[in-house]
Amino acid sequence: MTQPARPSPATPHSAPDSAKASSGKPLSAFERCLATPILGVGLGVDVYDKRPSVATLIKKHRAGFDFLELYTRGDAKFSDGPLSSLPADLSRTYHHEGLDPVGPGLPPEDRIQGCVKNLGLCKAPWCVEELAVRHINGRYTDFFFPALLNKDSLKATIANLRALQAQIPAPLLPENAPYEFVVGDMHLLDFLREVTHGADCGCVLDLGHLYSYQLCVGHGDDPLHGIEKMDLSRIIEVHLAGARIEKYSKGLIYRDLHGAGPIPEPSLAILRELAPRLPNLRAVNIEVEDAPENRALEQVAQVRAILREVRPDYVPKRTVHAA
Ligand SMILES: [Fe+2]
Repeated sequence: MTQPARPSPATPHSAPDSAKASSGKPLSAFERCLATPILGVGLGVDVYDKRPSVATLIKKHRAGFDFLELYTRGDAKFSDGPLSSLPADLSRTYHHEGLDPVGPGLPPEDRIQGCVKNLGLCKAPWCVEELAVRHINGRYTDFFFPALLNKDSLKATIANLRALQAQIPAPLLPENAPYEFVVGDMHLLDFLREVTHGADCGCVLDLGHLYSYQLCVGHGDDPLHGIEKMDLSRIIEVHLAGARIEKYSKGLIYRDLHGAGPIPEPSLAILRELAPRLPNLRAVNIEVEDAPENRALEQVAQVRAILREVRPDYVPKRTVHAA
């Protein structure tokens, strides 16, 4: 399908990974996110997937998206080829998995160093990581065990994020994980606000994952219920993804499908409502693993159309990656 014309990327821009404030003090991780220009509407793709293929997207569909968010599922053994061959005029972000920041302690050193290596290769301005545990007894699971929503978990998460940030060269952006059940007495948006303030970081708000939480706590009919609890200025990036809403005996449940399905209307409704209220929004990422290229590009067009209407100033102006 024909894509709307977008501003072409101008001179490659170095994200401020070693930037200093006018005071001469190094910028904090959060300030480094704020100093990064708008990236636009991008596609979240696994660098090892055949569809959509990163190479095909870059070669044949460059105008159809503004940046790529690169996923490795935490692998650093085979990442040299795919992450070091990206064209200089491609804006990119990086999505790691497996740092497990909501666990009781830090992950093993080799997992942290894997993230450091991948960031060095792909030169992303920040690193997204789910607020979930992906390893149980050292084994990688194929599901997210999302953050327990209580004070102990919050304390551990803040300590982990601070310790991880001290080792990782790019700002860490924790993301709200998908919920199919909720454990804990804190509201997710209280938890997220406290995490961003306690660790002094920005965050990713995954709109489908927010909806998944609302379904769990009985507010599926009002997906922005409790949004006033969140410090919206901390949201640097939002995620959208294909999903299936399933009926079961006690209600509805959100199943992440990423590229294997349409973006549910409640996620798009949250985008329409929230996008004008996010003063520091820098990236809108559509997670499209497993989508054919044409479907991925259609979803970008769908999201760009919404943003043009509700947030016309949200326009990328230059290529963004670290030096
Ligand atoms: Fe996400």
